[in-house]
Amino acid sequence: MVKEARSDWDPWPKLNTKSNQIWLKLFVSALLMGVSFRLLFLRSSAVLPVSESPASPKKIDYLPNATDEKCDIFAGRWIPNPLGVPYTNRTCHFIEEPQNCLKNGRPDTGYLYWRWEPYGCTIPPFDGERFLNSMRNKSWALIGDSILRNHVQSLICLFSKAEDAIEVYHDKDYKSRKWLFPSHNFTLSLVWAPFLVKAEIFENDDGQSDSEIQLHLDTLDHKWTDNYRDFDYIVISAGQWFLKTAIYWDGHKVVGCHYCPGKNLTELGFEHAYRKSLSKLFDHIAEVDHKPMVFYRTWTPDHFENGEWFSGGTCNRSVPYNVGEYGGKDVDHLMRNIELQEFQKAKAKFSEHGIRLKLLDTYSLSLQRPDGHPGPYRTFHPFDRKKKSAAVQNDCLHWCLPGPIDAWNDLLMELVMNDL
Ligand SMILES: *[C@@H]1O[C@H](CO)[C@@H](O)[C@H](O)[C@H]1NC(C)=O
Ligand SMILES: *[C@@H]1O[C@H](CO)[C@@H](O)[C@H](O)[C@H]1NC(C)=O
Ligand SMILES: *[C@@H]1O[C@H](CO)[C@@H](O)[C@H](O)[C@H]1NC(C)=O
Ligand SMILES: *[C@@H]1O[C@H](CO)[C@@H](O)[C@H](O)[C@H]1NC(C)=O
Ligand SMILES: *[C@@H]1O[C@H](CO)[C@@H](O)[C@H](O)[C@H]1NC(C)=O
Ligand SMILES: *[C@@H]1O[C@H](CO)[C@@H](O)[C@H](O)[C@H]1NC(C)=O
Repeated sequence: MVKEARSDWDPWPKLNTKSNQIWLKLFVSALLMGVSFRLLFLRSSAVLPVSESPASPKKIDYLPNATDEKCDIFAGRWIPNPLGVPYTNRTCHFIEEPQNCLKNGRPDTGYLYWRWEPYGCTIPPFDGERFLNSMRNKSWALIGDSILRNHVQSLICLFSKAEDAIEVYHDKDYKSRKWLFPSHNFTLSLVWAPFLVKAEIFENDDGQSDSEIQLHLDTLDHKWTDNYRDFDYIVISAGQWFLKTAIYWDGHKVVGCHYCPGKNLTELGFEHAYRKSLSKLFDHIAEVDHKPMVFYRTWTPDHFENGEWFSGGTCNRSVPYNVGEYGGKDVDHLMRNIELQEFQKAKAKFSEHGIRLKLLDTYSLSLQRPDGHPGPYRTFHPFDRKKKSAAVQNDCLHWCLPGPIDAWNDLLMELVMNDL
């Protein structure tokens, strides 16, 4: 059965009140940094993808399909979809509690009736049977943090119409897991590596940490590199964990930190750590002689409003944003730009190395879906009278299942099927 991995629904550790204040300052400084970053960028000729006003959908009589090279499947809008969702919590038994929003009592269902439509082309709905058939004997891995776990659950649910997964491995915390789809001899692994690089994390079961994370920017996390050669396809991503307080190591010595007052260390900022880690990741993809197809999934924006996750932020919208209505937070722009820059750098640097690296650029479609998060419904009936005394924690980062995150897999399938 599905065992819920403990309270790491949130990528950040729960903090006591004192450190909450620290976090507030941290966020403010992150925001300020974001602002200066943006000013810096707008002055140069670089374009901020998120602040572009999206092209208005052109009137076209004929919609080519996405094999048309000119169609960017990541640029588009959400349109009403009376057909609704491809699976339910009854047909899929792999939805973990914190994402099972309807079971947990979420009252509105309008968020289930939307479909992503790229400008200028259509993408077919996810076809599990077709996908599994073309993936016979193949091995996939999704590598990263709890958002990747969210993504994997969606994938397994979308496959469930064709075949149910059998779990063949899990680690002690159910963070790294592996499933087999026996009649297709297809394996799907989830590898827990929230930083992608080596990290010593001192968190207890409740996600409370009593010491700073030690992050080794020059060493990749062996949890995924050890099995790298086993995989034919990889979806990899990171991001949110880099916002945490951490000490940075490079070349076996401490080189600085992110938010460590009183430690007499250089504040390098999480951008430094994220940039270095991505560069390390892309170097690995280029250098290892095994060449799986690798998708880097871009930063996923949260939709906390009127506060952050630790300060009473909520997300109670029930419809998507209109195109251009919401441009994201500064931290979104900052992290996304690091990803795009490092990705382009790697593509240029390694064009000769036969790397098979693509972006799974889910950012824009995710940004438009403030209505797709569990909010308070990450727990069972959060507003029951008995529990009223306790504050209700909202999750405006992960996604309800079914929900908008299923579209990530529609796009992933499209990329994969068009590249066979
Ligand atoms: C997509 O378009 C290509 C050529 O433009 C065509 O060969 C192919 O059959 C189309 N696929 C679908 C699913 O319509
Ligand atoms: C599925 O969701 C419905 C609400 O639509 C809920 O009543 C039911 O308990 C859920 N079932 C499971 C198995 O999660
Ligand atoms: C899958 O592997 C089996 C056993 O090695 C082989 O007989 C079969 O042809 C393979 N199928 C595909 C589609 O590669
Ligand atoms: C399943 O796939 C693996 C990896 O490609 C292959 O070695 C194995 O022979 C396959 N098993 C069967 C029963 O087809
Ligand atoms: C801080 O570090 C610098 C260089 O490592 C050292 O010279 C200085 O004495 C340190 N200051 C304190 C207060 O420890
Ligand atoms: C949504 O939350 C805000 C506070 O964050 C509140 O003012 C508003 O009334 C809520 N809307 C609904 C429909 O619950």
